[in-house]
Amino acid sequence: MPTASASESSSNQPESSNASGSIDHVLVEERLFHPSAEFTSKAVISTEEQYEKLATAARENPDEFWRAEALEHLHWFEPFDTVCDWQPPHAKWFVNGKTNACYNSVDAHVAAGRGDRTAIIWEGEPVEDGQPRDQRTLTYAELQTEVAKCAEGLTQLGIGVGDVVSIYMPMTPELAVAMLACARIGAIHSVIFAGFSAESIAERNNDASAKLVITSDGLYRRGKVLPLKATVDEALEKSPTVEKCLVLRRTGDDAPMQEGRDVWWHDVVENQPGQMAAEPLDSETPLFILYTSGSTGKPKGILHTTAGYNLWAKRTFEWVFDHREDDIYWCTADCGWITGHSYIVYGPLSAGATCLMYEGAPNFPAEDRFWDIVERHKVSILYTAPTAVRAFIKWGDEHVDKHDLSSLRLLGSVGEGINPEAWMWYHKKIGGEKCPIVDTWWQTETGGIMMSPLPGITPTKPGSCTRPLPGVVPSIVDELGNSVDSEHGGKLCISQPWPGMLRGIYGDEERFVEQYWSDVPDKYLTGDNARCDTDGYYWIMGRIDDVINVSGHRLSTIEVESALVSHPDVCEAAVVGRPHDLKGQAIAAFVTSNDRGHDDEFRNELKQHVRKQIGALAQPDDIRFTAALPKTRSGKIMRRLLRDVAAGRELVGDTSTLEDLSSLAKLREED
Ligand code: WT7
Repeated sequence: MPTASASESSSNQPESSNASGSIDHVLVEERLFHPSAEFTSKAVISTEEQYEKLATAARENPDEFWRAEALEHLHWFEPFDTVCDWQPPHAKWFVNGKTNACYNSVDAHVAAGRGDRTAIIWEGEPVEDGQPRDQRTLTYAELQTEVAKCAEGLTQLGIGVGDVVSIYMPMTPELAVAMLACARIGAIHSVIFAGFSAESIAERNNDASAKLVITSDGLYRRGKVLPLKATVDEALEKSPTVEKCLVLRRTGDDAPMQEGRDVWWHDVVENQPGQMAAEPLDSETPLFILYTSGSTGKPKGILHTTAGYNLWAKRTFEWVFDHREDDIYWCTADCGWITGHSYIVYGPLSAGATCLMYEGAPNFPAEDRFWDIVERHKVSILYTAPTAVRAFIKWGDEHVDKHDLSSLRLLGSVGEGINPEAWMWYHKKIGGEKCPIVDTWWQTETGGIMMSPLPGITPTKPGSCTRPLPGVVPSIVDELGNSVDSEHGGKLCISQPWPGMLRGIYGDEERFVEQYWSDVPDKYLTGDNARCDTDGYYWIMGRIDDVINVSGHRLSTIEVESALVSHPDVCEAAVVGRPHDLKGQAIAAFVTSNDRGHDDEFRNELKQHVRKQIGALAQPDDIRFTAALPKTRSGKIMRRLLRDVAAGRELVGDTSTLEDLSSLAKLREED
């Protein structure tokens, strides 16, 4: 554990080059922030010894550790006999046990006499005057009834164990209800983010042989109505396996219903008795499929199963978010992503938390939407993404200053690396310098958080996800699969199975093996590069495919980007390599800025800034100013596309997951 005290300076000495194909590390971050004594004194994990004990037990005696965890933290209709059956690359957890993820998330609390506790506080999209269009609160007992009704409706529509249900819905409580109802009866949900095209829906329906689609007439976003049902209709023309479509009335707009196929939620769900009990399901019953867009090719249906995933989501939630009775917890993700699955639905609900769920966008009707919600609901834990934090910085402090954020006690970040300067802003402006920040590293495939500070004990370094959680055994390897000197970066692998790990790519065993288990024998290959510093802290260096090779030095994108973002006039930066005759690759940077002219003077200033921050080697060759960076719909910078732009190549590969095509079109025009 690091011992240096907090200091405001970051010094920057480039490390020397290396020969093994590992990654050079050029950005040195020395600031260190300790949790306050007050935070620590009340924390769930409050001493280093406690963490060491958990981590050692999970590493050295995983069977015993996970047996005790599973028995204590999940409800078992029938006990399991084997804790983990590990036949690389396949793991089965809690073999032959019977449990139910919906029971654990909902019924367990009602059974324990806590049915009156608020489960979900929902904020609908506001109308122009700033008032929420709808606002609802559901206790655990009410949620149980809603979920049971939906389960009854699904059963009536012929859905049962093992059937796949696609869910394409707005961020309403019914979305969570639909997911939980599937879990209740053993159906497999496949949530499709309600911004995807008809083509994407059809592709996912077909890949999973979905039997039912649940959708709504439309959704509200930034004051507009998007017609979801019309999009689903188009998808259903090309989805031969889908037999029925269940439609929630949300906007009241026209939704043509096809006789014999389409039914209304208010006809099929709302009038049910709401009595159906949760089905005891085998531990390895598939719980959900969630598609992630691979960098090329067709999306992968990541498969998670019941018991292991549920336990991982619950325990990681409790450890990382230091959950307490009186917390109001808000994860700003959409249920269309894994973050929504694990940290809006299964994790926090299994832990009995009070979760805020919101519909809409952070800048509608105004850029203070988040802070207005935090103030009104006295949110104590806020979990959001670096792309949002960078947007808040760009929009200006005045939107934050209007609101009282004193209820916040803990902040989280997920989805990408957070640039140290964005981290500092989050810490000062939102956290009032008193809230620990948990920078959580994980993936759709890992089911839940893998590395993160434990807020009561882990001193944080801006930009580092710090240490593995109990049960996570990372290792960093070079091109040949050998462990590398961890000060240099290499490929990040996980060398021991954990309960939340994916069980496969739905219907594609070959791709599963090739993607995650081929490069390094018997280790899960994450696809990210990382390094581990002398304090044992991990620094994610970006995707393996994004590494830039300048004259034989392999550089990580995030370090150069963070150096650019540390310039006061830069909002966001994306860095990619482009072909260069002499150096192999040159560094091309795409930069957004608020107040400066986009001229050569600024370009040179930025080049000098990077040179000073992290060294001559990392100085960008090209700097291009842009109004916005191309991002995925979940907010990740799409460096793959920028590589093509920088190289002057035709855009290749799939752009359908792009949030805003216009940013890319503009960049192309300027070529
Ligand atoms: C990839 C996984 C994690 C749930 C949401 C995204 C990147 C995620 C961090 C972080 C640096 C991060 C990685 C990872 N990533 N969190 N805290 N620091 N990088 O899930 O879409 O499956 O993406 O997101 O590259 O592999 P996902």
